Amino acid sequence: MGLRSPTAVIMKLDIPFVRQQFPAFDDAHRVAGHAFDAAAGSFPCRQSIDALTDFYANCKVQPGNPYPVSEIGQARMQASKRQWAAALNVAEHELGFGPSTTQNIYVLANAFREWLQPGDEVIVTNQDHESNTGAMRRAVVAAGAHIVEWQVEPDTGLLNTENLPALFNARTRLICVPHSSNITGTRNDIPLIVKLAKAHGAFSLVDGVSYVPHDIPDVGALGADIYLFSLYKVFSVHQGVMVIREGLLAQLPKQGHFFKETLDVAERMVPAGPDHAQVGAAGAVLDYIQALAAHHNMSSDIGQACRDVSGLWHAHENAIIKPLFDYLTTRQNIRLLGARTVDADRCPLLALDVKDVDPEVLAQQLCTANILCSAGHFYAPRILAAVGIEPDKGVLRLSMAHYNDAADISALIAALDQLT
Ligand SMILES: Cc1ncc(COP(=O)(O)O)c(C=O)c1O
Repeated sequence: MGLRSPTAVIMKLDIPFVRQQFPAFDDAHRVAGHAFDAAAGSFPCRQSIDALTDFYANCKVQPGNPYPVSEIGQARMQASKRQWAAALNVAEHELGFGPSTTQNIYVLANAFREWLQPGDEVIVTNQDHESNTGAMRRAVVAAGAHIVEWQVEPDTGLLNTENLPALFNARTRLICVPHSSNITGTRNDIPLIVKLAKAHGAFSLVDGVSYVPHDIPDVGALGADIYLFSLYKVFSVHQGVMVIREGLLAQLPKQGHFFKETLDVAERMVPAGPDHAQVGAAGAVLDYIQALAAHHNMSSDIGQACRDVSGLWHAHENAIIKPLFDYLTTRQNIRLLGARTVDADRCPLLALDVKDVDPEVLAQQLCTANILCSAGHFYAPRILAAVGIEPDKGVLRLSMAHYNDAADISALIAALDQLT
């Protein structure tokens, strides 16, 4: 199955209702332009902004101390953890919030450096954002273990699962992959990858940063041992979510203070002091998702609401983006990385290489034309080099979220047509 499809009756995402939940679309604040930079950072929903403001206004003291306002702060932080654990279908102690995904993986890499034995092997890809590969590559080498690289196809930038089984052997301990790449947008087959890893007694680490804004996954069902993503791309606050399933959590050397005894991701694997207000506000985006579910007569159960709403998002994103793919097939001088059609496995994110055009200049021209987008290597220089694009030159990236609409796409096509 691809990204979610609505389970109930076929229905359409109510975009005016969606946009009412985002102050960025209010007349008062209106971000003047057509937004195509969601993969860099999405607009926060009103529920996230209100929760953060309210925390600062009403309970910004050291949480967990025995006076009422401190207990309120603590309760809000615990509620965020409880809400996200339910949404992702994992246990509360298997989930922690850290400053960012890069920082969370950096800490994890340190734990793996202590845990790996000389001669062990770790599979990484050259499709990843550097945060899911750089620190881990260094840790593996420092442990005397070996990196095995699963490489993308040079014409598309996609990972071919047919090449993967041969990379596993009895020494493989871990595989690190992106759920979907921040350059190609295409979903990797995580259930298959996890199955292969388990069959070889290896663990799996999945970077869901690019994927989760389009499909809040059932991480429990997915089976990955580690799952990470960044809330500031999921309409929320600037925090990273890190899930480590208990079987691995119990084995990995603790990165927190020696006196932190609990088997809990927050205690063992987040050495930074938590950003209380952001953690306290981290659950509010799930209130938004539940409001969307209620508005569309979907389940009130938090996990099911996430699945159902993800199906609505994906159907909407695929519908509005179709004319853009159709248009691009008519353009011989524009190379689109990844799959060249809208399909069930694609997130609405396009990396373009326009012949003889500097992507930075094009991004600037598009921004002037009110198409808010960006260019560069997006911290994924390895995949660009692998598909024959100079990382320093980079690509133009156009990334959407469910709050985009058909008018955004028409404006983009018109601007691309004029400028390229
Ligand atoms: C696919 C992917 N992984 C990881 C990261 C790093 O996330 P963070 O900014 O939270 O460190 C990003 C950031 O853009 C990303 O796109």
